[in-house]
Amino acid sequence: MTQDELKQATARAAIDYIAPKLENDSIVGVGTGSTANFFIDYLAEIKGQFDGAVASSQASAERLKSHGIPVYDLNSVDGMQVYVDGADETNAALQLIKGGGAALTREKIVAACADEFVCIADESKWVPVLGNFPLPVEVIPMARSLVARELVKLGGDPVYRQGVTTDNGNVILDVHNLEIAQPVALEQAINNITGVVTNGIFALRPADVLLLGTESGVKTVT
Ligand code: 5RP
Repeated sequence: MTQDELKQATARAAIDYIAPKLENDSIVGVGTGSTANFFIDYLAEIKGQFDGAVASSQASAERLKSHGIPVYDLNSVDGMQVYVDGADETNAALQLIKGGGAALTREKIVAACADEFVCIADESKWVPVLGNFPLPVEVIPMARSLVARELVKLGGDPVYRQGVTTDNGNVILDVHNLEIAQPVALEQAINNITGVVTNGIFALRPADVLLLGTESGVKTVT
């Protein structure tokens, strides 16, 4: 199977996973990226079974709306049963690296509001230790150099993602060569750097369930 076929299979499995939990007034949290896009397309097939969605990016909001799925502002909902999103890396504890699509801040906010975080990923994302994928860090533009110097002190090699502005008007530093043996501690340490908005380690709030697309089928990991 191609990587896209694995992503499609895991997105389809996510629909099967969430559909029985949905009620007429349910709000579905929706992530960002190519796997999330497949999920959005399949979600449209069951749009009569829930109220609407909250999106973690403008791109996902536009895709949801193009399918006729109502998109709510996060501040207008009380919370949500489920948030479904992809990842750039996952370890066995379902701690993630996210933000390859620069949507990490809104993804972390929506995930924080969800009762259940369902991660959908193909098997290329499964790693023993996080950090091979460069860690995205969203930064207030004027603090870019300050934050980069602090990230070097933590052992990383930050690279400015040229030409990218996040939905929040900020910039991204991709931090190479971090071996993230202690994801919670590093997530907290990077959060504490002045000028950092969010970092792409999702360990303080990991996924609750992982639907992992493999050649031998979609595996459910909890
Ligand atoms: C976007 C993300 C995505 O979930 C992550 O980059 C995975 O993307 P894809 O499903 O395209 O492989 O965190 O900010």
